[in-house]
Amino acid sequence: TVLVVDFGAQYAQLIARRVREARVYSEIVPSTMPVAEMLAKNPAAIILSGGPSSVYEEGAPSLDAALFEAGVPVFGMCYGFQLMAQSLGGTVDNTGAREYGRTDLHVSRSSSTLFEGTPDEQHVWMSHGDACSAAPEGFIVSASTDVVPVAAFENDDKKLYGVQYHPEVMHSTHGQQVLEHFLYRGAGLTPSWTTGNVIEEQVAAIRAQVGDKRAICGLSGGVDSAVAAALVQKAIGSQLTCVYVDHGLMRKNETEQVEKDFVAATGANLKVVDAQERFLDALAGVSDPETKRKIIGREFIRVFEQAQLEILQEDGPEVAFLVQGTLYPDIVESGGGTGTANIKSHHNVGGLPDDIEFELVEPLRQLFKDEVRMVGQELGLPEEIVQRQPFPGPGLGIRIVGEVTRERLDLLREADAIAREELTAAGLDRDIWQCPVVLLADVRSVGVQGDGRTYGHPIVLRPVSSEDAMTADWSRLPYDVLAKISTRITNEVRDVNRVVLDVTSKPPGTIEWE
Ligand code: XMP
Repeated sequence: TVLVVDFGAQYAQLIARRVREARVYSEIVPSTMPVAEMLAKNPAAIILSGGPSSVYEEGAPSLDAALFEAGVPVFGMCYGFQLMAQSLGGTVDNTGAREYGRTDLHVSRSSSTLFEGTPDEQHVWMSHGDACSAAPEGFIVSASTDVVPVAAFENDDKKLYGVQYHPEVMHSTHGQQVLEHFLYRGAGLTPSWTTGNVIEEQVAAIRAQVGDKRAICGLSGGVDSAVAAALVQKAIGSQLTCVYVDHGLMRKNETEQVEKDFVAATGANLKVVDAQERFLDALAGVSDPETKRKIIGREFIRVFEQAQLEILQEDGPEVAFLVQGTLYPDIVESGGGTGTANIKSHHNVGGLPDDIEFELVEPLRQLFKDEVRMVGQELGLPEEIVQRQPFPGPGLGIRIVGEVTRERLDLLREADAIAREELTAAGLDRDIWQCPVVLLADVRSVGVQGDGRTYGHPIVLRPVSSEDAMTADWSRLPYDVLAKISTRITNEVRDVNRVVLDVTSKPPGTIEWE
C-alpha cells in the first residue's frame, strides 16, 4: 500500500487515484495521524499531498521528521515538498512571490530518477506562495522554474523525492510519468494492482464476514448498488436477496434492465415490488418539489421495509447483513475509518421488529467510481448498467414540474427515451455528465401541427457537463443533434409541441429542476 498523507486540500483523492492508475494500491490518511501509526500500516511508500497552508503559517499542519528516517520511500508534492525541505534542513523562503497556474518547468538533470525520459522543458501546475531556495544536504536539484530555484529534489540513497508542483493534475503534462517514476524507480514497486484482485479479495472477505447467514441488498438501478450486489452475489450466491422497488418513476426500460439484464448477468435472487399505484396515490394533487421528494422518500422506506420483513419471515438462516454500495470518496469525506459499522433500523413504520440489527457489507468501500465501473464490467454486468449516468432517487417524479400523473409520466418517459437514444447514437454519452429531460406540465404554449392549432406542453433538455455534480456547465451539444431530438420529440410524443434548451450553469441553476 502507498499511503497518501492528506494535508487538507482536495488533492489527496486525486493523487490516490493517479497512484491506482499506475496500478499500485493506495489509501488516504489524515496528516494528523501519528507517524508511528502510519508506519504500522507497513506502507511501501508514502506521498505527502499539497495543502492550502504556508509552512510559516501558525497552526499549519506539520509532520514528524521521524517519517524520513524510517527507510520508507517518500514523495512530497507542493506543501508536502516544502515540509520535506524544511524538516530535512533545506531553505524555504517566505517570499510572498506567488506562482499560480500553468508554469514552465526547467529540468536540470537528465540522470534524474523522477524526470528520466521526460523533456527538458515541461508545463506544470503550480499553486504556492513560499519557495525552496536551497535543497537539503545530500539532495540533487533536478528542476527549477523562473521563480523557484528548487522546484524538484531527489535523494536516491534515502529514497526521498519532492516536487514543488502538482504532478497529479492534468495540466502537468508529464505528471503521471513523474509519479510512476517515483513509484517504480524510486520506491521499486511493481504495477500489479488491478480491479480483478479486488474481486477475488472481496469475494473471500464477504464469505468470511457473512458465513452461512443471509444478506439483503436494495437495488436502485444505479451503478453502485448493482455492482455491490453482483459482487456479493458472486461471493454468497443464493444467501443474498436483492430488493428493487418499482415506484413507477423510472425511465423507459430501466425496471426491465434490472429485472432481466441484471438477473441474467448475476443470477441473483431478485424481489421486485410493484409499488406504482402506491406512489401515484401518495403523489396525487402534489406539485411542490420538496413535498414530492418527502413523499417519495417516505413511501420508498415503507415499501422497502415491508419487503425486508417478508424476506425475514421466509424460512432460512438469519438475515443479518445489509449490502450497501458505499464508495471510497464517501468514506474519506466522512472522516475515514475502518471496520464495519452497525446500523440499527429503529423505524417502526414498515413494521420491522425493534431489535433487528443489520451489519453492513460494503464491498466497494476501497474504490473510486471509475474503478467500480471496471469491477462491474469484469463481473459481466451489461454496459447499460455499468456506464449509467447519474439519475436521482426520486426519478421522473422531480422532472415533472407540476403534479405527477401516470399520463404525464408516460409522456416524459417517451421524450426522455428519444433524447437518450439520440445522444447515444451521436456518441455523446461520455461527453455529458447527464441530461435531465423535464416536462413543464403546468405550462402550455400554442403551436401548429399539420393544419391545426395545438396547445401543448414544452419539454426542457438539460444536458450538463460536470466533474462531481457540485458545479456544472451546460453542454454545448451539436445543433444537428439538438435538431434531431427536437423534431423527434415533437413528432412522436403526444401533447408536446415545443422543445427548449436549458443554458444555465450550476450555480445559479441546479442540475435538476426540482
Ligand atoms: P442538483 O439538482 O442538486 O443535482 O444540482 C446534483 C446531482 O444529484 C442528483 N440528484 C439526486 N440523486 N437522490 C439522488 O440519488 C436525489 O434525491 C437527488 N436529487 C438530485 C442529480 O441528478 C445530479 O446528478
